[in-house]
Amino acid sequence: MPFVRLHDVGPRDGLQNEKRVIPVAAKVALIDLLGRSGLRDIEIGSFVSPKWVPQMADTPQVMAQIAAVPGLRYGVLVPNLRGWERFMAARVPGVCYEVAVFVAASEGFSRSNLNCTVAESIAQLRPVVAAAQAAGVALRGYISCVTDCPFDGPIAPEAVAKVAALLRALAPMPLSLGDTIGKATPARVAAMLDAILQVVPADQLAGHFHDTGGQALANIETALDKGLRAFDSAVGGLGGCPYAPGAPGNVATEKVLALLQGAGFETGIDPAVIAEAAILARGMR
Ligand code: HMG
Ligand code: MG
Repeated sequence: MPFVRLHDVGPRDGLQNEKRVIPVAAKVALIDLLGRSGLRDIEIGSFVSPKWVPQMADTPQVMAQIAAVPGLRYGVLVPNLRGWERFMAARVPGVCYEVAVFVAASEGFSRSNLNCTVAESIAQLRPVVAAAQAAGVALRGYISCVTDCPFDGPIAPEAVAKVAALLRALAPMPLSLGDTIGKATPARVAAMLDAILQVVPADQLAGHFHDTGGQALANIETALDKGLRAFDSAVGGLGGCPYAPGAPGNVATEKVLALLQGAGFETGIDPAVIAEAAILARGMR
């Protein structure tokens, strides 16, 4: 059976959106349960400014307390050299990590999320990427707003392809394509992928769909048709908008698993453990 790799980003992308502070022990319990599911990638936190995202300020404590599963890769977001230094100070020897750097396809989102232009964000990643390569730490690149930006509106597919090429000129890292605000539709995803596949092979791409518009599963099917075999999801559909209680967040891992199973894909993930983790995750919202 063809294999699809799922990255559960719930503990980071999901919990960064929760208004209330989630205790470290609760985060660790969720991550450790996910670690028993067969997932190979879990994104557990970020080394961004704690003033910007206080929900992720405890990532060093989370890293110190998880029961790391051999062979599982734990992902963290790093926006700049300061974040890289904090990651290096927190990392636990013997644990496999992935550092995710992130940029936007739109100037409006770059300004709002990183306080700089797209070009400046790529420039400040150069030393981070070099340091990760020197330290032998796996890298991943995120591109946000691949079809729509909350500030700049619809994004041209060519703009995404251009940013992808710039990121991969730093290092040949796999990329995750973010429908940050969950507005993408299958037709727009297809057009965006047609452009990016001109510059990046499908096996280097992941789809990162938020389910705000209820189109995430349809968008994943479109991406599967285009040859993508990696997707980001959040257990229990964690995330969403702090100003809209109950609004869907990242596409739920359990829903993606069901879709993939029905379509004949192998993931190596036990749906029963994910169902248990989804109950835990939903209790955090
Ligand atoms: P800034 O305010 O422009 O930073 O923020 P600065 O360089 O001017 O520094 C200001 C202060 O922050 C200084 O401290 C720095 O030391 C400190 P002070 O002198 O005032 O005491 N600082 C840091 N502290 C801790 N860790 C750091 C760090 N860097 C600077 N790494 C910055 C620039 C990039 C830091 C800020 O904009 C930031 O943290 N942004 C991150 C926002 C974020 O985490 N967003 C969510 C993740 S992206 C996402 O969710 C999308 C994704 O899911 C995909 C999708 O859905 O599209 C990935
Ligand atoms: Mg996201």
